[in-house]
Amino acid sequence: MSSYLSKASNPKQYDLGEVRWDQEGSGDNYFRRLFLESIDDFIGEVKNKTILDVGSGTGWLVSELNNRGAKVIGIDPSKTNLLTANARYPKLEFRLVPIEDFNYKKRFDIVICVMVFEHIPDLENAFEKINSLLKPDGRLIVITGDFNKFVKSRFGYTVEREIIEDEIVATKTNYGERMGVLYDINRTPNKYIETAISHDLKIKVYKPIQPTEWLIGEQEKYAQFSGNSIFHLYIFERS
Ligand SMILES: C[S@@+](CC[C@H](N)C(=O)[O-])C[C@H]1O[C@@H](n2cnc3c(N)ncnc32)[C@H](O)[C@@H]1O
Repeated sequence: MSSYLSKASNPKQYDLGEVRWDQEGSGDNYFRRLFLESIDDFIGEVKNKTILDVGSGTGWLVSELNNRGAKVIGIDPSKTNLLTANARYPKLEFRLVPIEDFNYKKRFDIVICVMVFEHIPDLENAFEKINSLLKPDGRLIVITGDFNKFVKSRFGYTVEREIIEDEIVATKTNYGERMGVLYDINRTPNKYIETAISHDLKIKVYKPIQPTEWLIGEQEKYAQFSGNSIFHLYIFERS
């Protein structure tokens, strides 16, 4: 396995001190707003729905969905991120476990993964696992970074690449003071959609997420991506 690929897929990456996701400003609030707005167009009423937030990080989405009346569990293999989530939202449920090892007595209405597949080396296994955790009418919501944006240096962050195979590149991104060094696996939307479909999931929504007017207003640097995708939203349902 390439060195970037093995670092990107180490479930303990966020505990090794190179990246600081729990630092204020790392999972920036404007991205959270952008993600929520994108999901909101499709998610509908979540009150009383059971939701699994895979790779819940510092817990913002678990909190947001909980505030809307959903019954949410967040799972994450990073102790650092989990401790922060517990400190910020002591009443909410977080478990220290990677998706590959997570088992639960009941199935979920919704499984959601925001910027987490970037750390999952075996997509086939992950989709199979998620499928087994969903109710027959359950939905999987995924947000991933845009392949072209994330494999290139940008905004003064240096990106080094290792090509893994066609349409899959492992990267080392130096975010400097903002949050240190992060390793990711970047794939094209095709890779996600094809793999999910081959694991009995149907693609219901696919939406490239582009910089909005308010984002460019707040963060001018995003003007250079105007009209281009910066993230992708996928909603899958079980066949
Ligand atoms: C880029 S952060 C995103 C966190 C959060 N979803 C957010 O929106 O702020 C990726 C998260 O995925 C977690 N992660 C890494 N490998 C994982 C795995 N195998 N299963 C579940 N989560 C994983 C990391 O520990 C980290 O908290």
